Amino acid sequence: ALEAQLQLREVAGIPLQASTVDNWNQIQNFEAKPDDLLICTYPKSGTTWIQEIVDMIEHNGDVEKCQRAIIQHRHPFIEWARPPQPSGVEKANAMPSPRILRTHLPTQLLPPSFWENNCKFLYVARNAKDCMVSYYHFQRMNQMLPDPGTWEEYFETFISGKVGWGSWYDHVKGWWEIKDRYQILFLFYEDIKQDPKHEIQKVMQFMGKNLDETVLDKIVQETSFEKMKENPMVNRSTVPKSILDQSISPFMRKGTVGDWKNHFTVAQNERFNEIYRQKMEGSSIHFTEL
Ligand code: PPS
Repeated sequence: ALEAQLQLREVAGIPLQASTVDNWNQIQNFEAKPDDLLICTYPKSGTTWIQEIVDMIEHNGDVEKCQRAIIQHRHPFIEWARPPQPSGVEKANAMPSPRILRTHLPTQLLPPSFWENNCKFLYVARNAKDCMVSYYHFQRMNQMLPDPGTWEEYFETFISGKVGWGSWYDHVKGWWEIKDRYQILFLFYEDIKQDPKHEIQKVMQFMGKNLDETVLDKIVQETSFEKMKENPMVNRSTVPKSILDQSISPFMRKGTVGDWKNHFTVAQNERFNEIYRQKMEGSSIHFTEL
């Protein structure tokens, strides 16, 4: 039974966790509200990081308020399902507004009520190579996802989009294409890394908040990789080892730009660049790291 659960199953060609697919009706019928803010990412793109930034902004830099619960409970994960625990949808339904929610779903699988209510979306994109590396190590340590195999095998799996939540290329292109049609703030992991204060200010404005310089500086400090790695409310240290085995690879692993250089061979890099060019052809999206 566990083996079957670990297998990804497809919804409209997108591989998802079996428990999510079992709960698909409830997810698609989720009722968004106009004042919801939805954090959207492809896996391993800085979701936890932007969640903590948003929570700090929401609570005017009050560290204690951001310690009220582990981050998985502060912002319900819409497609998350693991019975008998309450699903992401059930957690969101029980939450007072204004709600901050999170998803990894590509645009075409998002519950339609998010579009109908013209919700705010905060999308964070991370360059494909670092995403692949981070996802590989995550699949090694996450006992709820398929074993990634060797790095060489995973390289092919990732490129072909046969990973949870589907193809990186389609996900990023999909959200980028619609960003001017909806209330979407589109950010890049690499930009947050390079100038966190500037990007945090953008998020603040998008959320309709106005915080002092001193508060902004505090948020920059509190959401640094070094701080977050030690923070039990975000670093997943409360998750049992049978689910996330951090002795294999920590959830807060490196938090850098360019770790792909330590994993890609020269040949893999050349092959990757060629495939990237083909898959991203026609899209105006540009990453500073490629
Ligand atoms: S998940 O499982 O999809 O929700 O993972 P996600 O949070 O999107 O991504 C995890 C990667 O983000 C890194 N991370 C950070 N980088 C910089 N600064 C901060 N504060 C930060 N917090 C998390 C985390 O280390 C993972 O990246 P890698 O490259 O594996 O270290």
